[in-house]
Amino acid sequence: MKNHRLSQYLLKDLNIKDKLLHNRLVLAPMAGLGHIALRQLISEFGGFGLLFTGMCSAKAIPQENPNVSLVFNWRPEELKYLVCQIFGSEPESMAKAAVRIEKEGFFGVDLNFGCSVAAICKKGCGAALLKDPELSSKIVKSVRESVSIPLFVKFRLGWDNNPQSAVDMARRFEDAGADALTFHPRIAPDRRNRPPLRDVITLVRQAVEIPVFGNGNLFLAEDGAEMIEQTSCQGLSVGRMAVARPWLFAQWTQGFAPGEDIFHTTAVRMTQILSDHYPDHFSIKLFKKFLPYFCANFKFGHDILKRLNHAQTMDEIRDKLDSIFESSPETLSRPNLNLFS
Ligand SMILES: Cc1cc2nc3c(=O)[nH]c(=O)nc-3n(C[C@H](O)[C@H](O)[C@H](O)COP(=O)(O)O)c2cc1C
Repeated sequence: MKNHRLSQYLLKDLNIKDKLLHNRLVLAPMAGLGHIALRQLISEFGGFGLLFTGMCSAKAIPQENPNVSLVFNWRPEELKYLVCQIFGSEPESMAKAAVRIEKEGFFGVDLNFGCSVAAICKKGCGAALLKDPELSSKIVKSVRESVSIPLFVKFRLGWDNNPQSAVDMARRFEDAGADALTFHPRIAPDRRNRPPLRDVITLVRQAVEIPVFGNGNLFLAEDGAEMIEQTSCQGLSVGRMAVARPWLFAQWTQGFAPGEDIFHTTAVRMTQILSDHYPDHFSIKLFKKFLPYFCANFKFGHDILKRLNHAQTMDEIRDKLDSIFESSPETLSRPNLNLFS
């Protein structure tokens, strides 16, 4: 599939419940990375169908104040394409959170059955739920009965390498009322080190009628084209590479051709947007989370990362960016995955 065929495919309409999407390329949910500032930066480039928030605690959402919360917050203009992801382990609290999400006007709600971080799994949330298919069904049903906005489920291969269990879970989610699935074909103990098992996306896609968004290691347009060719998944969900290159959506679907100064201007813009939304100490913290992905674009990314990580204030970060880009650092077409976590 050539790049123009990829964009044609990604721009084909897709029904999700009673809503029509004009673009099948979406931002994957990423806690600590997919915040309001990154989403604004991505929105300024455009070219995506939906953006997902990082996971929010279902228990906290009903009383959360978006004017104060650092995660459950949004710009009003993004709600029409924003899906809020929640994690939890109780059908009732997941449903209550979804009701608030619907009331606020989000495009949809996404349930996290994929996070394999110990702190989340210990509470019986995220990928831990894949060990309890009955409870998983109950959660999806309870959310389905409480809201009418599109209901997404994001999940992974499970805890052992058994494709049949992923297929069974996909059917369960569909039967319980999910409108779309995002599937990350890795087993839970595998964070993101081994390659994703694309064949299992095909099996999941074949098992259900609802759209399946394929996810995992999509870095260049060629990777997206290959995933579609190999799996016939209905859409693509991109995570880390959209942090490294927030213009990726515009590039893959709208033929956006980044200029030479794109890295410099984008990093500076990120500092500005972060400062617009967050107090200084938090902006710096979030910028430093963004940095390893951004620095993966450069041949000597480790050095650039080290220099920027030394900065203590946003002004210092901007000064360092100016001096780093004065010497036009060599870029890589494929990112340096040693810097991705
Ligand atoms: C820092 C980080 C935070 C993440 N947080 C979430 C999350 O909150 N919810 C979720 O479903 N997946 C989360 N993920 C997983 C991504 O959505 C995605 O499945 C994974 O990164 C693989 O896709 P990629 O190769 O395009 O990055 C996170 C990944 C990263 C790197």
